[in-house]
Amino acid sequence: MLYHIVTYGCQMNVHESEKISGILKKEGHEESGDMNSAELIVFNTCCIRDTAEKRALGNIGALKRRKKTQKDVIIAVLGCMTQQDGFAEKLKQLYPFVDIILGTNNLHLLPYYIRLKDRKGIKICGDGTYEADRPFDTFRASYPNAWVNIMYGCDNYCSYCIVPYVRGREIGRSPDDILKEISFLLDEGYGEITLLGQNVNSYSHGGRDFVWLLSEIAKLKKKFRLRFMTSNPKDFDERLIEAVSSYPNICKHMHLPAQSGSNRVLSLMNRKYTRERYISLTRSIKENIKDSLISTDLMVGFPTETEEDFLETLSLVRECRFSQAFTFVYSPRSGTVSANLPDLPADVKKRRITELIRAQNKVTKEISETFLGKTSELLVEDTDKDGRFTGRTDNGRLVSFEKNDGVKIGDFVDVRIVGAKSASLSGELLSINRTN
Ligand code: 5AD
Ligand code: SF4
Repeated sequence: MLYHIVTYGCQMNVHESEKISGILKKEGHEESGDMNSAELIVFNTCCIRDTAEKRALGNIGALKRRKKTQKDVIIAVLGCMTQQDGFAEKLKQLYPFVDIILGTNNLHLLPYYIRLKDRKGIKICGDGTYEADRPFDTFRASYPNAWVNIMYGCDNYCSYCIVPYVRGREIGRSPDDILKEISFLLDEGYGEITLLGQNVNSYSHGGRDFVWLLSEIAKLKKKFRLRFMTSNPKDFDERLIEAVSSYPNICKHMHLPAQSGSNRVLSLMNRKYTRERYISLTRSIKENIKDSLISTDLMVGFPTETEEDFLETLSLVRECRFSQAFTFVYSPRSGTVSANLPDLPADVKKRRITELIRAQNKVTKEISETFLGKTSELLVEDTDKDGRFTGRTDNGRLVSFEKNDGVKIGDFVDVRIVGAKSASLSGELLSINRTN
């Protein structure tokens, strides 16, 4: 059967879609390349913000007409949206033509429900991990990068966030499984491993912690890149800074969501750190990890956020000099603590996000300009729409350079940076440092 997967949301979901793809391929199904020719359409949904949720619901709804004329097309809805309280029942009422609804821990049941004749599969389960975490079946679409879950769920209960409710409590994967999966990927020639978790710094399994795990992985092989996301500032400590600075293959790019620059808002968000602690942490990272860059997530329009609070977020952007910021407008998520607080007017949120993006763009551009004339090593990852190779620097900056017959995706190359636009850089090839 030809299948097509539509993915919404974060990297965690992109990787989950690779697992779904692996499960389907093992059953003999094949990717269709587009939705129109697919006989099985899988929506891997996300509910962290209402934008992603609305998009998924709209796209599922758009299949109503096709399902009338093509009754055999199977529609499956997976992902964390389905794990919200009462959501499966609501979806069945709204879109009775949906065939299968599965929670995030039941991906492996997809083939079973596909085989069932009546296909009225609904299985949602809140806790636990994806019961059959079979890493070697994953169909990876991101060579030379490979994503590896080290943990599932989140215990932090930030007041705005639905993740702990839909993904359950934190569970660390066994270090043996993680190390086996990564050794396999390195043998396969992957040049970059990114460890995934909602809060990787609180990884724990059988008395082992994140710094131990990161160091064990870094020792596996000299030439590969090791990244991790996402870090919670409250758990990012000096031991981790020391580990990152002492292993050359751990990338000098930290993604450290700040959310807000105001202590009042941070406290309402239940983030468990202050603006001062955040700033001193970023300072310590920059002082102790040479050439490191820090990216972040920022939110505007959290309930009760005043103009003063917002100005503190703007000043954090200038003070911390983030290399990149993912900026979000707060949206209330049902069941979370902050959903009970009054939402700010849409026009206030809109103005604040525009100002925030403008402030960050200025910093992004200034940081880009510091690369001019310097030599950077890239892992060649892709080609862009202009047919140029693209890759990232160790500290996370995207660089493009002209195609060269001697270079292939997965190579490490040195380039001289000759152009700096806002977020992206362009370079000239200097040498190829092949490892595979
Ligand atoms: N509204 C807006 N943004 C949110 N995020 C999480 N929950 C919400 C919400 N309710 C953002 C945070 C988080 C990122 C993954 O999504 O900034 O770091
Ligand atoms: Fe959500 Fe906070 Fe957990 Fe991140 S740390 S997933 S924002 S609850």
